[in-house]
Amino acid sequence: MTETVQRPLQAVVDAQRTLEGGGFPVRRPFPTAQMPQVDPFLLIDEMGPVTWPPGEAIGAPDHPHRGFETVTYMLAGTNEHKDSRGNAARLGPGDVQWMTAGSGVVHSEMPEETLRLAGGLMHGFQIWVNLPAAHKMMAPRYQDIPAKTIPRATTPDGLVSVRVIAGRALGAEAVIDTVTPIMMMHFTLAPGGRVDVPVPTDHNAMAYVFSGRVRLGPEGAPAESGQLGVFGGGDSVRLAGVEGDSNGDVADLLLLTGVPLGEPIARYGPFVMNTREEIVQAYEDYQQGRFGVIPGE
Ligand code: CO
Repeated sequence: MTETVQRPLQAVVDAQRTLEGGGFPVRRPFPTAQMPQVDPFLLIDEMGPVTWPPGEAIGAPDHPHRGFETVTYMLAGTNEHKDSRGNAARLGPGDVQWMTAGSGVVHSEMPEETLRLAGGLMHGFQIWVNLPAAHKMMAPRYQDIPAKTIPRATTPDGLVSVRVIAGRALGAEAVIDTVTPIMMMHFTLAPGGRVDVPVPTDHNAMAYVFSGRVRLGPEGAPAESGQLGVFGGGDSVRLAGVEGDSNGDVADLLLLTGVPLGEPIARYGPFVMNTREEIVQAYEDYQQGRFGVIPGE
């Protein structure tokens, strides 16, 4: 019989507001000067929420990636994806796209035409997951996970629910296949709701709050929308809902965990490799057109 060790909350950091892609607003807990990454995660961007006037919605036109994975999780609005492997998909609310850029892709991520013309609400996430050196040049892979196939579960008291994008929680197991062990979950917590989520001891773990207020860790440290809580070592994380403010009582957060790679990182824009030489090579390969082009463009 072993005792469960709850992970202490080590730090709470505020997301920074910035512009990404063609100029859409994001909240970014990292990378920042203070926190370059939380191994193996390289970036968390909360896209919006933003309500676009007609004709003004902005996305991310053609750009390359190499050496890591991009995960897109839409909450509101639509995102149209096209890439140099010939994939084309439309992501709506609740849908996830898990793209392993590997050796390299060029893709575009744009609001759907109806949203561009009529305007509307856009809200979602893009998360970058690093690949280990041995897999950085793997063949690109693309997994589309429609909202209806993402397992959901709820605590018996009904106060905590979860959408399991990667890993397992509350008896639900994700359908996604990740290169390295990752947990990615969207928890919704009502006041008084509390859950202890088992997380393997070899994972780093964090929670990014994107609506409402919560309490994190065994001491119940407060965190609110736009804040990232980073946990220390142990084998479970405690998440709890509290009374909210005028925006409502229900809180939402993303729980992200993964096994740290512990490898050197060379990073330049859309390329994340291990050495500067590999970055130079990536840039050259892209310039020479070796990533391919999006069909029809
Ligand atoms: Co991209």
